[in-house]
Amino acid sequence: AVSEGGRSYPFGDWGFELAPGYAAARSARAPACRVTTVTGDPAWLITRYDLARRALADPRLSGPEALRPEAPRQEPLPLRAPEGTGDVITTLRQAGLHHMLTEALGPRTAKRHRPWTDEQARLLLDTMVRDGSPADLRSGLALRLPFAVTCRVLLGDMEPDELDRLNAHADVALTWGPGLSPHEIEDLAKAQEDIYRFFRRRLPELAAAPGDHLVGKLAAADVLDQRDQVVFAIMMFMAGYRTSASFLASALVTLLRHPSALRTARERPERVPAIVEELLRYTPMATGGAKRVATEDVDLDGLAIKAGALVLISLEAANHDPAAFTEPDAFDPERDASGHLGFGHGKHFCPGNRLARMQLEAAVGALADRAPPLRLAVPAHDLRWTKGAAFRTPQAIPVSW
Ligand code: HEM
Repeated sequence: AVSEGGRSYPFGDWGFELAPGYAAARSARAPACRVTTVTGDPAWLITRYDLARRALADPRLSGPEALRPEAPRQEPLPLRAPEGTGDVITTLRQAGLHHMLTEALGPRTAKRHRPWTDEQARLLLDTMVRDGSPADLRSGLALRLPFAVTCRVLLGDMEPDELDRLNAHADVALTWGPGLSPHEIEDLAKAQEDIYRFFRRRLPELAAAPGDHLVGKLAAADVLDQRDQVVFAIMMFMAGYRTSASFLASALVTLLRHPSALRTARERPERVPAIVEELLRYTPMATGGAKRVATEDVDLDGLAIKAGALVLISLEAANHDPAAFTEPDAFDPERDASGHLGFGHGKHFCPGNRLARMQLEAAVGALADRAPPLRLAVPAHDLRWTKGAAFRTPQAIPVSW
């Protein structure tokens, strides 16, 4: 067994700083570190950049296997819809529809929606500023911009109060604990079910809403059954909206902590895409790892992984590996951050990366152009982060100007 003596994971770092445990694991002699997840399952935690890339590219370390209900896991409850496989990406591949996902999320789509997204980012900031200082940049921009894009490109037309309700359920469904009581685990299961029920009820209307959003296209293709379409919509909400909103909020905090980066973005707008890449490298998002299960015994650079073992790859730790990036803990708007693992690597590389980059560039551009500039209204270390959240997110980003 991998487990005995393994440290508890996640490490309990819910804010903008990575727990020291990551650096310690990265510089230890062993190539990977033994951890024990909140379910008591043993796992390998990979923190080095080179090994992370190799693990992510290795077909013997399987993403779908890690979604099976009986697989060892890091989350308190398997993240899956009732009766579903939870693995709608494989379902799409099997139905020959994976290209629809990559095309609908690809560079052409991002380019087409870019001017509208830029405009939305500016409008949201204008509205927030008009309402007076101090303001909350999280509710003013970080939750709303991805919502606007999600409705337009992915999910059809949702109401803001529906978003609030879904976010409240997802806040509960996407927690690690640690140490959740049986009662809290029940709440978590109920939150998952509420999300499922929401989309089961609303999907027919969402799919029929005007526009060329993805749920509409998928419904029109008439290949997935109703349940898989619902699971797909949930994936768009969780993997598309929740990641974008949490990451944008965290990235905005990074920017406000480094006002010189915003000046660079204003004076040299051509650097905005590079600044976004550096945000993706530097700003930690997940508090857990990208998860895989070994389908056979694997020797990965001297790390002997047994068939059936759980492997957690910390993209955050890899992105801060001094062997891959000079002074990795410095946020440097002049850096060439290409090769970062913010969107993963290999087969499961984020298909939404173009859409995510488009939103991030729009937000950074709009924020950089504001005069007078927005600044954090509290010391960065006083920001409160959501404890136990699978995706780091500040509870609010108070700003003034
Ligand atoms: C997968 C990050 C936005 C859809 C991933 C993975 C990462 C990631 C790291 C790989 C996970 C793994 O290897 O296990 C992000 C970040 C985002 C973002 C940081 C925002 C800043 C989006 C958006 C979509 C999306 C807008 C839109 C639909 C997906 C899907 C997968 C995925 C469907 C699963 C792919 C697979 O398993 O083959 N994302 N993502 N993501 N992402 Fe994103």
